[in-house]
Amino acid sequence: MAKSLKPTAGKHAAAEINIGIGKKDRGAIADGLSHLLADTYTLYLTTHNFHWNVTGPMFNTLHLMFMGQYTELWNAVDPIAERIRSLGYPAPGSYAQFGALASIGDVPAQPPKAFDMVRILVQGHEAVARTARGIFPLADKAGDEPTADLLTQRLTVHEQTAWMLRSLLEE
Ligand SMILES: [Fe+2]
Repeated sequence: MAKSLKPTAGKHAAAEINIGIGKKDRGAIADGLSHLLADTYTLYLTTHNFHWNVTGPMFNTLHLMFMGQYTELWNAVDPIAERIRSLGYPAPGSYAQFGALASIGDVPAQPPKAFDMVRILVQGHEAVARTARGIFPLADKAGDEPTADLLTQRLTVHEQTAWMLRSLLEE
């Protein structure tokens, strides 16, 4: 006879997360993902700002390229935040929190020249890739495949985008 699926004792038992990853590991991964979320959001805002403010003979190319990139980054913040929630922690979501958590600086106050924008974005994508890569050992150790999968997807995008932007700077 199949073992009956009995609810765990205690009226709040269902509120406790029991997905096979210990609280300490979930906390460490969620903390790493909070940094990734802040980096991704900051890079999103920087790229959208550059879409608005780019000038010069490369205007059309960069204006459109930046639009594709900021759209991708905007879509990326949601799964990162929701993974943090699935691990049982609050997702950061304010300018103050993002400013404190991000490894990349805020958007420059004055719009840079077009090629300086490209350089700043190359550095930004590489910085976000380093942040994502740094979380991998934690996800691996905890057997957290969904986070490892998310990190793999983000690394693919950031490394490819850095290559494409870097190619614009080469003769
Ligand atoms: Fe636009």
